[in-house]
Amino acid sequence: MKVAVLGAAGGIGQALSLLLKTQLPAGSDLALFDIAPVTPGVAVDLSHIPTAVTVKGYGQDGLTDALQGADIVLIPAGVPRKPGMDRSDLFNMNAGIIRNLVEHIADTCPKAFVGIITNPVNTTVAIAAEVLKQKGVYDKNRLFGVTTLDVIRAETFIAELKGLNVADVKVPVIGGHSGTTILPLLSQVEGVSFSQDEVESLTHRIQNAGTEVVEAKAGGGSATLSMGYAAARFCMSLVKAKQGEEVVDYAYVESTGGEADYFAQAVRLGTEGVVEILPYGALSAFETQSKNDMLEGLKKDIKMGVDFVHGE
Ligand code: NAI
Repeated sequence: MKVAVLGAAGGIGQALSLLLKTQLPAGSDLALFDIAPVTPGVAVDLSHIPTAVTVKGYGQDGLTDALQGADIVLIPAGVPRKPGMDRSDLFNMNAGIIRNLVEHIADTCPKAFVGIITNPVNTTVAIAAEVLKQKGVYDKNRLFGVTTLDVIRAETFIAELKGLNVADVKVPVIGGHSGTTILPLLSQVEGVSFSQDEVESLTHRIQNAGTEVVEAKAGGGSATLSMGYAAARFCMSLVKAKQGEEVVDYAYVESTGGEADYFAQAVRLGTEGVVEILPYGALSAFETQSKNDMLEGLKKDIKMGVDFVHGE
């Protein structure tokens, strides 16, 4: 198994790479690419951890080598939010970075599973898909927007609120990865009931948890450690699927549900990527209303990505 992390020297990249060094199956290769000069040093640092995962660092000119033979590529490259910024404010800086990196993926490892972490995910996934289509190698089953952070936040906040063992809490989170497009389905959390006030305040907290971190870091960036954990957890789902295990996880993928062209929901994964998009089941009145209210915004985010690639 070869996993490439693009943007590996950043806050997310380093946390993610550390977890992958300790969690990937023995014999795996971990390729760390970043334009930051510290990248070879991050790789040397990680290489001293005694696990059977080989780590190599690649700087500026090493992107093609980093991607050669990759089974999974995770992309946290780009600029994070500062206080007062919305994820969509990152578009101008991050859109071009994603286009460039995905062009290289298309040329070098077109069959790899690609997990996009760079925000705004609602838009950057559409950019990646259009670039892959232009290159004639797009496979909707292999491209994922990583929304695991929304899922783990929902699990944590519900367990805290209800005094539960967090390992037992499972929360579907559907939609997109920004503000109200993040839709936790609290009505489907097993064995727990919520008052209407709790539903509204928890939903709001899960949707704005990223801003909680951005404000607490006071200009020093956005979530990196919890995101590193989330990305590693999602990557391990992809690894297990590649190894032939049956896995169900949440991700933002091309949707056939007719709601928006891309939509986060539960997907069954196999050796070739998404095998099946699972229906999200019955929604409460609050969830139906929230979904209907956010769909236009999500579609706009997606269109922005498509237009960016086609020069409109
Ligand atoms: P950071 O600034 O700490 O790290 C970003 C890294 O990307 C830097 O090391 C930088 O050198 C590198 N980079 C920039 N341009 C590059 C290029 N063309 N090729 C390779 N590397 C490049 O930022 P952080 O906190 O790690 O966040 C990264 C991204 O992840 C941001 O866009 C942020 O908004 C997003 N994010 C996504 C989340 C999600 O749930 N999907 C959660 C939190 C952050």
